[in-house]
Amino acid sequence: MNKPYSESCDQNKQVILSIISPLFSSLSSVLEIGSGTGQHAVYFAEKMPHLTWHTSDCRSHIDGINSWVTESDLNNVKPPFELDVSKSPWPDSDVDAIFTANSIHIMHQQDVVNFIRGASGLLKQHGSLVIYGPFNYNGLYTSASNERFDQWLKQQDPQSCIKHFEEIDSLANNNGMRLVTDYEMPANNRILHFVKI
Ligand SMILES: C[S@@+](CC[C@H](N)C(=O)[O-])C[C@H]1O[C@@H](n2cnc3c(N)ncnc32)[C@H](O)[C@@H]1O
Repeated sequence: MNKPYSESCDQNKQVILSIISPLFSSLSSVLEIGSGTGQHAVYFAEKMPHLTWHTSDCRSHIDGINSWVTESDLNNVKPPFELDVSKSPWPDSDVDAIFTANSIHIMHQQDVVNFIRGASGLLKQHGSLVIYGPFNYNGLYTSASNERFDQWLKQQDPQSCIKHFEEIDSLANNNGMRLVTDYEMPANNRILHFVKI
């Protein structure tokens, strides 16, 4: 199959790496949820060769991720397994951290609840959950472009939308995690770094 391609992945991979590289420097393994095309996985695995990068997504993305993983010929990025955060139980996975990019605004509200609960259930004490994407704060968009993006998301799927930071933070707290750092990123995105207590 032709490898799927996302231009935004190419545009944001370096700035994401600049944040996650120090966060993951002493870790051995990361599970990516919603790996999408698989581009991030291959790039991050190549740049952080000490890590084993596990890929996952809903069934419809598995073949595409596989084509990036196979072509990369890297031995530290693993073929994808099916993980829809709303289907339980999640497959067993022994990892030090969980990473997801641009998936929370696609997920429906109940998916996000299940995502945070499932991530916390998988992580060991001190394990990290790292989330990249846009968020609203104090009930407000952080930019006009995020507002337009949110309207576009809702046209694609009425249950997709930019989520509120406070809701994510509260869900994380209620599931035994605490926010370590909320990083401001280019193009009105954030990286939220939570740790399992
Ligand atoms: C906009 S894409 C982002 C893909 C990639 N992470 C990136 O940054 O380019 C959103 C991703 O979230 C995934 N996703 C949406 N709902 C999901 C769910 N319930 N469980 C797991 N992944 C989900 C989609 O399958 C898709 O891969």
